[in-house]
Amino acid sequence: MRLDKLLANMGYGSRKEVKQLLKEKAVRVDDAVVKDAAMKVDPEQQIVTVYGERVEYTEFIYLMMHKPPGVISATEDKYDQTVIDLLDPLAQHFEPFPVGRLDKDTEGLLLITNDGQLAHNLLSPKKHVPKTYFARIEGVVTEEDITAFHEGVTLDDGYVTKPGELVILKSDVISEIELTIQEGKFHQVKRMFEAVGKKVIYLKRLSMGSLVLDEELEMGDYRELTLEELAALKN
Ligand code: URA
Repeated sequence: MRLDKLLANMGYGSRKEVKQLLKEKAVRVDDAVVKDAAMKVDPEQQIVTVYGERVEYTEFIYLMMHKPPGVISATEDKYDQTVIDLLDPLAQHFEPFPVGRLDKDTEGLLLITNDGQLAHNLLSPKKHVPKTYFARIEGVVTEEDITAFHEGVTLDDGYVTKPGELVILKSDVISEIELTIQEGKFHQVKRMFEAVGKKVIYLKRLSMGSLVLDEELEMGDYRELTLEELAALKN
């Protein structure tokens, strides 16, 4: 990769600031001073230093975000702010993307990474990665709904869902539930409730596989995954 990209990714400033470092002869590759920002380096084979300090290279970034409502789960959008817009420039240098989509009005756990292989594994329908949501529902959620979700409900396009596990936390005119599903069809939770004649009025994702939303994270905030979280997710 280009030397300036490597240094910018690793937090040595913007590409412009990196240029300045190069001008100052602060950067060495395998002990030789380098001034060419476009020089191709292999960070796994070559030793890059800035003012004598070794640049440790990491290729991947893994972030847990507490997605706020009103923001799009995409890398770019013509009209709306995206989850990537909420990241600082250092994180953006890694060119990460959200793993799966939450609707604009849905909040909660969103994994953001540039590790395509991990994203593929988590999203693959074959892997049945469970996702748990908390929701408020307009309408009284009943035992019949638990059974219906367990057996699979027919969505508006005729698709019959795989078994979902519904837990009723509060059954009232506005009910509160947790629902765990193992697939990720478009608007799935909302459409499952529509299939039983009810409406989701608030939706928050709590977990995805082993990864659980850190409730310390304010809405719109994010943090790197811990080594334990990452290892569990890759298992
Ligand atoms: N199901 C939905 O309906 N919306 C989401 O954002 C996620 C799951």
